[in-house]
Amino acid sequence: MDVFKRLFPYLKRHGKSLLLGLLGMSLFTGLTLAQPLLMRYLFNDVVEVNRWELLPVVVLLIAAAPFIASAFQFINQRIIMRAGYGMISDIRLDMYEKILALSMKFHQDHSSGVLVNRMMDDVNMIQRLITGDTVTLFIDVIIFGVAMGVVFAIAPVLSAVLLTTLILYVLAYRSFAGKIKNRSTSYRRMQDTISERLQETIAGVRHVRIYNRELLENTSFITRTEQSLEHALHSRLGSVGLGTACTFIAGFGSAAVMIIGLQQVLQGHLQYGDVFAVNNFVWMALNPAIRITNMAGQLTETFVSVRRVVEVLDETPTVTSNAGAPALVRGEGMVEFDDVHFSYVPDSPLYRGLNLKVAPGSTVALVGHTGCGKTTLTTLLMRHWDVDSGSIRIDGQDISAVDLRSLRRIFGVVLQDPVVFDGTLGENIAYGWHDAPERLIDEAAQAAELGDLVSRLPEGYDTIIGTHGIKLSVGEKQRVSIARAILKDPLILIMDEATSSLDSESEALIQRALERVLEGRTSFVVAHRLSTIIKADAIVVMDSGAIVELGTHEELMKIPAGHYRQLYEELRGQAKEPTPTDSSRGPV
Ligand SMILES: Nc1ncnc2c1ncn2[C@@H]1O[C@H](COP(=O)(O)OP(=O)(O)O)[C@@H](O)[C@H]1O
Ligand SMILES: [Mg+2]
Repeated sequence: MDVFKRLFPYLKRHGKSLLLGLLGMSLFTGLTLAQPLLMRYLFNDVVEVNRWELLPVVVLLIAAAPFIASAFQFINQRIIMRAGYGMISDIRLDMYEKILALSMKFHQDHSSGVLVNRMMDDVNMIQRLITGDTVTLFIDVIIFGVAMGVVFAIAPVLSAVLLTTLILYVLAYRSFAGKIKNRSTSYRRMQDTISERLQETIAGVRHVRIYNRELLENTSFITRTEQSLEHALHSRLGSVGLGTACTFIAGFGSAAVMIIGLQQVLQGHLQYGDVFAVNNFVWMALNPAIRITNMAGQLTETFVSVRRVVEVLDETPTVTSNAGAPALVRGEGMVEFDDVHFSYVPDSPLYRGLNLKVAPGSTVALVGHTGCGKTTLTTLLMRHWDVDSGSIRIDGQDISAVDLRSLRRIFGVVLQDPVVFDGTLGENIAYGWHDAPERLIDEAAQAAELGDLVSRLPEGYDTIIGTHGIKLSVGEKQRVSIARAILKDPLILIMDEATSSLDSESEALIQRALERVLEGRTSFVVAHRLSTIIKADAIVVMDSGAIVELGTHEELMKIPAGHYRQLYEELRGQAKEPTPTDSSRGPV
């Protein structure tokens, strides 16, 4: 139940409308409860004692009650719905913010498919809980309580039958609930696996085709879906079984009430009007009890969803700035790694005391074989991960002591896999800068060699690119990301294998653009192109998480049988081979 507490703040925010709605619903409930009593009055105090002068008033009241009750119901359902939807949108926004704020570690452990499921499906379950189930539950509890009270007051003997029936209910519920919960949890977990796999398959559809995996993926999709539906079915069947058992028990109880009640009339203990009212109230008490128990089944299902939502809401980002941390003061761009220890996996360190000092404005080329730790160096610098010990300083300021947003602001990144968001070209270049002046966007685009593309696009900067728009080639996307970096005017630029998957023409354009953006900034370039490496102010040669050589091209070439010389020969060998073509436009 503790997780439900986590939702209280959201309830509170819409508390007024919810209370208003519930108050209105109580009036509706009161009117509903009044009807059998009016009928009883009609039988016992009008018809049986021949007080016909009261008939018109009583009949009018009996007729009007449902009208007024429905009007109340309509208005209040609307109020509650609105409040419920408001609350759900708050939860979703908070989850979204949290997900964006959470560290790389979290995202590595939770695939996007799982997170999307939680934000959509699980939150929808909570929505159902708030706008539907809770309101019904509220009314049912009132009706149940009042009905029980009235039955007890009118015919104490019959309330014993009612109580017995209710005990049977509870027993039935307990025997079903555990099964329902287990099945529901398994179902949700399998749904996660399916979404994860589905996202991977769809995102990697080309690979699926190239490896002729369609049939296999299909089969495994079908198997998983069948398995998950099996769990869903059993969970629902459990709920249905519970409902059926409850209906049976209720029917039995009602029959018992009728028989015993009529016997009481014959013995003169009760009047017909009493039996009529009691029978009504028995159902009024039992129906809510059926629904309450049914809902208990549903609540168990919802409980699983609430927990999955709360898990995200309660997750604490591991990489955060301390409260009141000062903003990073933008300086010249000097970077120092001081005795940095770091491991992704506990007890298997990648860096064991890494030291590196980078002069302001210089270009550093990071070279070394795949997996030696080049990318990690840049991600630590941007504080996507925190170091285990040691420190990283920018212009003398420890990056873990400054405000995280101010830190991220100084970086521009150009990565191997350029990301283009669904939106206009202009929005994509100005990503992260609301209403950037058109002039600056254009300057950045020109500097990134996008001029040709802009004039070719039907609506220039207003052309939609990305998922629902025009598809760009990798080279073009790369230049969009360079323009984005130029517009941001970063103090430190990070380029990770930015040109490794391009044809020579795109590469030449990108090289020109890059030279512009590199000018006067401290830059870390994970490079494979000899031209970039040779021109760098310093070359950092890495091997298994350690810096093994550091210097300029000339200096490093002088080391006989050095790591750099060896790498250089390897790269020169590769450069002579034909370059791959830029074949990434559109699907295969
Ligand atoms: N997110 C991660 N979780 C666990 N291990 C990782 C992660 N990223 C990289 N590694 C491991 O750390 C090492 C260095 O990786 P990386 O810095 O990406 O190397 P490079 O960029 O030089 O190819 C590799 O052994 C890699 O498998
Ligand atoms: Mg890398």
